[in-house]
Amino acid sequence: MYIQSIELNNFRNYANLSMDFHPEKNILYGDNAQGKTNILEAIYYCGMTKSHKGSKEKEIIKMNEKEAHIRMHINKNGVDRRIDMHLKRNKPKGVAIDGIPIRKSQELLGLVNLVFFSPEDLSIIKRGPSERRRFLDMELCQLDPVYLHDLSKYNHVVDQRNNLLKQIAFDKSLLPTLEIWDQQLVEYGRKVIDRRKTQIQQLNAAIAPIHEKLSGGKEHLQLIYEASATEEAFADKLALNQDRDLFQKSTTLGPHRDDIMFVIDNIDIRKYGSQGQQRTAALSLKLAEITIIKQVVGDWPILLLDDVLSELDRNRQNCLLDSIQEIQTIITCTGLEEFIQERLHVNRVYKVVNGTVE
Ligand SMILES: Nc1ncnc2c1ncn2[C@@H]1O[C@H](COP(=O)(O)OP(=O)(O)OP(=O)(O)O)[C@@H](O)[C@H]1O
Ligand SMILES: [Mg+2]
Repeated sequence: MYIQSIELNNFRNYANLSMDFHPEKNILYGDNAQGKTNILEAIYYCGMTKSHKGSKEKEIIKMNEKEAHIRMHINKNGVDRRIDMHLKRNKPKGVAIDGIPIRKSQELLGLVNLVFFSPEDLSIIKRGPSERRRFLDMELCQLDPVYLHDLSKYNHVVDQRNNLLKQIAFDKSLLPTLEIWDQQLVEYGRKVIDRRKTQIQQLNAAIAPIHEKLSGGKEHLQLIYEASATEEAFADKLALNQDRDLFQKSTTLGPHRDDIMFVIDNIDIRKYGSQGQQRTAALSLKLAEITIIKQVVGDWPILLLDDVLSELDRNRQNCLLDSIQEIQTIITCTGLEEFIQERLHVNRVYKVVNGTVE
């Protein structure tokens, strides 16, 4: 799978841009604040229907403009496909695939498989649980439409239940209605937990050899799903927690509060790992994500490397570059000399200057 071209209109600092990509290695270089990451963001947006940074539409649309457009041509399994996005301020975005509008933008997920890798991803292990859940969810949502459906339902139920908990604080007579949401919370929550656990198993199979190689055969890395309530105990624990939920006016357990533990030699490296250990494990995680997409989809994802190579030492750089040989990769960096070495055969180089690409 590879991106052929992208066209931007009023997206971030681009008034109009049209650019092609090589199916192999592409480099975007230029000074800070010129618009390199914005191009990767547009690609990510077109594939995943949201910004990798979590930005809102009104931040993405060029300042003083009302709307933005993105058009992306990809080649998937030898077939040319086109994605059109129309971003509006304060209104849902419009999405079309091959010229045919889709009802919900989520239906797009899975068409383009992407892996975005930025320096922030290197700190995923030391950051909070929400980052790790997000990693798992974004990966699963592009691979499994059933999961996408169950997770959206679950998140909706959590919102509704939290609203109700707030209302009950003022009106105790609403208490019996809580049960309806509890049932649905357990129903969808169990599905979410179950699917995440299977994914963790698959990740473990993929990550073990990768991490062993990256750590020079010294470390064995294992991921463990840390559930705030297991599938079996979810209903009971929820009932036991009702008073606490009513007091806090929010749902205090369930998959939206779960985490992934990273273990090396029986040590939880989220808490006790060295900085280098955490970063190596994070790189292993990204490489495992790429491997799994290839296994599930049967084709490599498109890889977006935002300023990440300069953050890695030579050994980790080489490991990354060796793993991506067959993968279309779009790399951003400030200078060309900082990393280019014989390990990477670059097919195309673009210079980004203040919202233009040469
Ligand atoms: N909605 C917007 N409208 C206009 N310009 C914007 C908008 N959002 C961001 N920008 C501009 O985009 C530029 C930043 O672009 P980007 O993050 O792609 O830079 P970069 O080339 O990746 O820089 P760095 O090397 O520092 O990462 C800034 O100049 C910023 O002001
Ligand atoms: Mg940038």
